[in-house]
Amino acid sequence: MSTEALTADRIASARARLQGVAHLTPVLRSHLLDDRYGVTLGLKAENLQRAGAFKFRGAYNLVSQLSERGKSRGVVTASSGNHGQAVALAAHMTGLAAHLVVPSDASAAKVAAAEAYGATVERVGPKSAERLQRAEALAAQHGWDYVPPYDHPEVLAGQATVGLEILSQVPDVDAILVPVGGGGLISGIATAVKATRPAVRVIGVEPEGSAAAFLSRQAGRRLAIPAGITIADGLRTVVPGELTFPIIERLVDDLVTVSDAAIVRALTLLLTHVKTLVEPSGAAAAAYAWQSPSPLAGAKVVAVLSGGNIDAAVLAQLLSA
Ligand SMILES: Cc1ncc(COP(=O)(O)O)c(C=O)c1O
Repeated sequence: MSTEALTADRIASARARLQGVAHLTPVLRSHLLDDRYGVTLGLKAENLQRAGAFKFRGAYNLVSQLSERGKSRGVVTASSGNHGQAVALAAHMTGLAAHLVVPSDASAAKVAAAEAYGATVERVGPKSAERLQRAEALAAQHGWDYVPPYDHPEVLAGQATVGLEILSQVPDVDAILVPVGGGGLISGIATAVKATRPAVRVIGVEPEGSAAAFLSRQAGRRLAIPAGITIADGLRTVVPGELTFPIIERLVDDLVTVSDAAIVRALTLLLTHVKTLVEPSGAAAAAYAWQSPSPLAGAKVVAVLSGGNIDAAVLAQLLSA
């Protein structure tokens, strides 16, 4: 892992690199839901980002630099989820080979999507530690570059561009709600936002069943929690990042939790009222704002809809429950 800092220069370079490559995603609104919950809520639609999640920003920012230097023989990562898809697409776009180490029960749809971007996929055991080990071994053996999901300054710089866009799209925003897994998205956003607008509150949202950052803050150190039980699969992190947790401690105003039931309700409201499809992890931030009464009543808030990748069968099950 690189220990270099996430600087304003790095974030500015990431923005330039992503210009015209990543989508400038819209901030969606529902006046009806604003009235119902008493909060003015903008929805930063990263579910409409390339490969269906904000993850493309960080992955492309790092992978394109590896490719430019002409020294990389290929990239490898240990994720079947949004990060894996993002690495596969970024490598495809920049002419590098990508290799994904995924769980043995990874969904066929996700594996097929990565393969469609030209990635090779290897299935390894149920435990994430085994996959990480295998990815690192492959990196050493073949001279491939390992692309971490959050603990790398160039990945964080890519995610930070979400924060810059929110400030220019909603200049009078009071608070930004961000879902937290390993903490890459919120570290990037908080660094970008606090540098120019320190009064804007940055609030991290985790599922009740997997609140590693919330519990770590209470403990005053990075805690490893038992594997989380939540439908928000992108937020099932067992320990906050080494690079991200100190940034969260320094810059994030508040860490809060939401129930899975609230996440499913928000996902349904996004579909029926906002006409946009998000995955459970992508609905967590909006779920926090849409409570009765809203903890942010009267404020002008933006919630990041961080991703929209969900299997049709899972969606059907959630909607019928
Ligand atoms: C849709 C979605 N939202 C949020 C996150 C959490 O991001 P981070 O690990 O950077 O905190 C993830 C992580 O995979 C994700 O896939």
